[in-house]
Amino acid sequence: MPNRFVNVRTALGALALAAGISSFGGAGLALAADAPSVSAQQIEYRQAMYTVMAGNFAPLGAMATGKAPFNAKEAQKRAERVAYISNMLSEGFPPGSNQAKGTHTHAKPEIWSNRAEFDKLMKNLQTETAALVVATRTGDEAKFKPAAAATGKACKACHDKFKQED
Ligand code: HEC
Repeated sequence: MPNRFVNVRTALGALALAAGISSFGGAGLALAADAPSVSAQQIEYRQAMYTVMAGNFAPLGAMATGKAPFNAKEAQKRAERVAYISNMLSEGFPPGSNQAKGTHTHAKPEIWSNRAEFDKLMKNLQTETAALVVATRTGDEAKFKPAAAATGKACKACHDKFKQED
């Protein structure tokens, strides 16, 4: 019997994740008591998205600052990835995912209490990365550099306000 209960609980958790449901309500919270919480997985999910985005932004930063030679094809590929992920990030911050047992987050609670401002900075990133894609498609380094710098500023603007250091 206890085994069967665990299976049901795991299945519910998987189902909720698959459907993108962020909260079960009271019954769900009780079920999730000693299983990895949905919030912990949401936190890990958004951190993973940021890691992949930063991994693709780093070569762009290197090219924009002259630490790596400009390569138009490479710049376009990386810019498209950064832009793609920037459109997914909001999904990583559903209500109730501001903290979770067993996971450390650098997301400030103000994201959820000042959502309009956070969304504005997210939209700003999406606008700048879309412009970066357009710039890299020209193959023109002179157009690429300011667009990469503007994207970097969009990252920093949000980190300054909504990301804590440790
Ligand atoms: C609208 C807000 C916002 C924007 C824009 C933003 N970030 Fe972040 N970033 C965050 C927050 C909040 C966290 C902390 C997430 C957490 O720990 O739960 C974070 C975390 C990160 C992390 C750490 C991930 C980890 O493994 O813990 C990296 C790397 C990162 N961001 C890079 C970037 C880069 C590069 C850009 C721009 C291309 C960017 N971010 C734009 C808000 C933002």
